Amino acid sequence: MSSRVPSSSSLSQRIEAIRWFHRIDLGDGVVTPGLDDTPAKLQRIQLPQDLTGKSVLDIGAWDGFFSFEAERRGAKHVTAIDSYCWSDEGWGGKQGFDLAHSHLNSQVTPRHLEVEQLSREELGGHDVVLFLGVLYHLKHPLLALEKIAEVTDDLLILETKVDLLNSKIPAMAFYRDRELNRDPTNWWAPNLLGLEHMLRSVGFDQVKVVSPPKSIWARLLRKPTQPGSWWREVRQGRVTVHARKATSSQT
Ligand SMILES: C[S@@+](CC[C@H](N)C(=O)[O-])C[C@H]1O[C@@H](n2cnc3c(N)ncnc32)[C@H](O)[C@@H]1O
Repeated sequence: MSSRVPSSSSLSQRIEAIRWFHRIDLGDGVVTPGLDDTPAKLQRIQLPQDLTGKSVLDIGAWDGFFSFEAERRGAKHVTAIDSYCWSDEGWGGKQGFDLAHSHLNSQVTPRHLEVEQLSREELGGHDVVLFLGVLYHLKHPLLALEKIAEVTDDLLILETKVDLLNSKIPAMAFYRDRELNRDPTNWWAPNLLGLEHMLRSVGFDQVKVVSPPKSIWARLLRKPTQPGSWWREVRQGRVTVHARKATSSQT
């Protein structure tokens, strides 16, 4: 492309050429057209306002909104990992992350890694670990939580789909084929008790629900996304928890 093209126009063309998941504010009134309501998710996850001097690991970062936000809030080092989408296997790729990274002059370190490959030996520990919207994409969720516990020094922020909310015992729903959101990469979603006990079993003794699923009344009135799935979806919601080990120093 000619260097005479005004940079703002070239930026909008580059933005338009990408399938965005996140809505990232690139400054000067430019926000990437993400499918996800990222600002609403940011409210729900209750990311600490001040991350000055903290190390942050963002697992399944995709376009990187939460990595860049952690950096904006003062984190001294942010590592963003992803695998599926960054390998162009999914609905979007890594182009969005790369564009925002360069445009924001970000120092976030990207690593092509699966959550199951995390190890303290390779990545060290992190004050804050973000695990947002990834748990239900995993075949082996408990294994992933074990790996996450290994690299979390203080606070884990976990956001996920939950299911079987009517059950009074710890439980996890298994999705056949494209049963959840017509997405073949969705495997499991626990209920709240199941999530809490899984986290406890890998060493997170303190588990606090900071953003609970919608009330049963709101879920009863919600329009189902697929025909015939009203009751199944009534039992589903999203939750954010903050989890710590007993030895954590509070962030
Ligand atoms: C629904 S998106 C969530 C993106 C972002 N964390 C958020 O909450 O907005 C799920 C992301 O998890 C990534 N992912 C799926 N399986 C993964 C794995 N085994 N290890 C690391 N990332 C994974 C996908 O590539 C995708 O970017």
